[in-house]
Amino acid sequence: MNTKILTTDTSDISLAGEIIANGGLVAFPTETVYGLGANAFDEKAVKAIYTAKGRPSDNPLIVHIAKKDDIIPLVQELTEEAKILIEAFFPGPLTIILKKSSKINNVVSGGLDTVAVRMPQNKIARALINASGCPVAAPSANSSGLPSPTKAKYVIDDMMGKIDAIIDGGDSDFGVESTVLTLATDVPTILRPGSVTKEMIEAVIGKVEVAKAVLEGMQNDEVAQSPGMKYKHYAPQKAKLIMVNATKEQYESFVNQQKDAYALCFEDDNVTIPKITYGKEDDDISQAHQLFDALRIIDTTDAKKVYARIPSASGVGMAVYNRLIRAAAFNVIDLKKPFTIGLTGPSGAGKGYVCEIFKKLGFKIVDADLCARQIFDINKEILPQLQKEFGNDIIENGTLNRHLLADRAFATKEATQQLNAITHPAIIELCKQQAQGLCVLDAPQLFESGGNAHCYKTVAVVADEETRLNRIINRDGISENQARARFSAQLTNQQYIEKCDFVIFNNGEDLHSQIHNILEEIL
Ligand code: TXA
Ligand code: MG
Repeated sequence: MNTKILTTDTSDISLAGEIIANGGLVAFPTETVYGLGANAFDEKAVKAIYTAKGRPSDNPLIVHIAKKDDIIPLVQELTEEAKILIEAFFPGPLTIILKKSSKINNVVSGGLDTVAVRMPQNKIARALINASGCPVAAPSANSSGLPSPTKAKYVIDDMMGKIDAIIDGGDSDFGVESTVLTLATDVPTILRPGSVTKEMIEAVIGKVEVAKAVLEGMQNDEVAQSPGMKYKHYAPQKAKLIMVNATKEQYESFVNQQKDAYALCFEDDNVTIPKITYGKEDDDISQAHQLFDALRIIDTTDAKKVYARIPSASGVGMAVYNRLIRAAAFNVIDLKKPFTIGLTGPSGAGKGYVCEIFKKLGFKIVDADLCARQIFDINKEILPQLQKEFGNDIIENGTLNRHLLADRAFATKEATQQLNAITHPAIIELCKQQAQGLCVLDAPQLFESGGNAHCYKTVAVVADEETRLNRIINRDGISENQARARFSAQLTNQQYIEKCDFVIFNNGEDLHSQIHNILEEIL
């Protein structure tokens, strides 16, 4: 098929209107993204949209109108809420879903008994609908699964030769698709966030809900409230996109250590690897404007792995977050936790060696045992609490008698628990103060102390008991009985393995490759 490229001149708009009236397909600009339009009442023309996009037939289309009243014949009933929303937001980037009238065929509605309607703000879009003389069914004008087009050139990339015409109307104003709000549920529910925010809608009709799938993705057995939720969307074709939940500093320090990776980040981020930006950190409108462009640019590079800086999910940011987390197929690295890795395991398993390797790989190591020894000097609130529990005489001339404290605190299990209850929170706090960038918390009592809650992933280093026994007898010059007593106060190999996300075996196995595999999986 020969696809005409049209301008926004009146004569071209009239021609495009005729094409639609005669059952053809025309891509056109709207204020959100480009749409791919056909006469909504012409089943055959609407079917051709699904074919051109490669879109699953159960994913319904939005019907676009040029005047507010044009919604009336399309729906069973215009509810009070619908009337208020139309007054407040039509024309604009809001789509409302209502029970459909008999005029809406099943091809447009994907077999549902509802219809999605929107009146675009873009004057070219409305002039085209007027010139067509019918409501225009239009999804975004991209091939199914790709980012929606925010420039005519992206429509050309996806649709050339597949449709009758493309109107080049310049860049889209908003850059993310319209907010989709269903009024066919008990409480109005946002099925897709957009530039008309939850707060803006609530200001006119009161409480609205946000479908769970908007921010969290769908469970396997969940029925999609909106069919579009369940399909793969926006992802780059060649590169793997991973979202990084991190502060600006954490993100920069993380990506700057990555080799062969790209950063998808904000303009002001200081990254030394190749970067593609999507707006400014504190400006969600600029992020929405540029995101799809940035996602398409990724595919023009040789990027294989792209780390995306997470946007804030409030206001228009909710739309940006929703599109980006889909583009990342819900792969998120969480570096907001102070520690990237919590490393634990029984005595003699070789945590020390493993820490050395992490250190060489650029991780900072925070040693919980060291913090435990320093805590009495640093945290002045602890000593009075210990005196209350273990006797005033544990402090002599202003200094702590560590031997006396140890005698009493390790005399019974209960006493040890009391000691831990007082010291563990302070130790973890001190460890957290030392955390920075990519960081390992080396903590034999990671789980007992609650330190695991501050780690992105946990890793156990384990080894056979005999191996460990020999190691600590030789290393610490203790007897076999003393060594066994130490073990009995700790978790077993199996308990460490069960509690941790990953395990490193150290009976002679290759530590480097095990660590490499773990990092490959989590970062
Ligand atoms: O900004 C926009 O909305 C753009 C421009 C062209 O208007 N259009 C657009 O259409 O993004 P599309 O088809 O790419 O996305 C429409 C979304 C889909 O996720 C679809 O599943 C959902 O709206 N949808 C449409 N009708 C629905 C209905 N009756 N019930 C639930 N979801 C519906
Ligand atoms: Mg779409």
